[in-house]
Amino acid sequence: MSQQPKRGQFAKTKDEVVLRDHAFDGIQAFDRKLPNWWLFTCYGAVAFFVAYWFVYYGTTLVKSPQQAVKERILAVQAAQLAELNQAMAGLNDAKLVHELATHPLYVAAGQATFMKNCIPCHGLDLSATQDDGNGQRIPLRGLPLTDHVWKFTHKPMGLFDLINKGSPPESTGNNGVRMEAWGQKLSPAEIAQVLSYIISKVPEDFTDTPAPAAK
Ligand code: HEC
Repeated sequence: MSQQPKRGQFAKTKDEVVLRDHAFDGIQAFDRKLPNWWLFTCYGAVAFFVAYWFVYYGTTLVKSPQQAVKERILAVQAAQLAELNQAMAGLNDAKLVHELATHPLYVAAGQATFMKNCIPCHGLDLSATQDDGNGQRIPLRGLPLTDHVWKFTHKPMGLFDLINKGSPPESTGNNGVRMEAWGQKLSPAEIAQVLSYIISKVPEDFTDTPAPAAK
């Protein structure tokens, strides 16, 4: 800058440079008039804020994150229910006992699901006990599944329902421990598989389920 800048508060015209009176710690600042295009981005942002604020809070045109998540959850629940209904439509006692529980691939898939989700309470051998390392069996929280005693039902579809929905509402649980609804974590197909695995371990408990009529 060739000439000494003027002193004052603010630059008033374009290209005018002013050394502001205000000083702090011996430091002073120049002032120049802001270009209009820059100012318009600022005014534009203010106008946008007001308009967006109105649209966001005053209308239903833009979804809030909460609303979007809620809709997504409802959609997932509807899809789960549709899948369950579809699976249930093709599933019955006879099919579980005579088709799925005797199918090696199905039973193997069910075993994998059981190992991943169920052994903490029902045990590796389905006895609801676990070796404590000194040859002693210590009880786990779940019920034994190979003792031929079925607390609620031994109807295959009843067991499907039990695994899907967890302990029935009236149950006080096993020593106070209730079972969660596995339908929240497993698909209907996975529940059918894991149940097939359980049935395949004690087929003698299910001999009262007649084989499907020959087609
Ligand atoms: C957190 C521990 C826990 C886990 C994990 C668990 N269960 Fe259970 N399960 C229980 C309890 C407790 C009961 C008894 C519920 C009651 O009395 O209300 C039970 C009961 C059952 C019964 C009925 C048993 C009977 O004798 O009538 C079946 C079948 C069963 N569970 C299957 C499963 C399957 C399949 C899985 C894995 C997908 C699983 N459970 C995972 C705790 C568990």
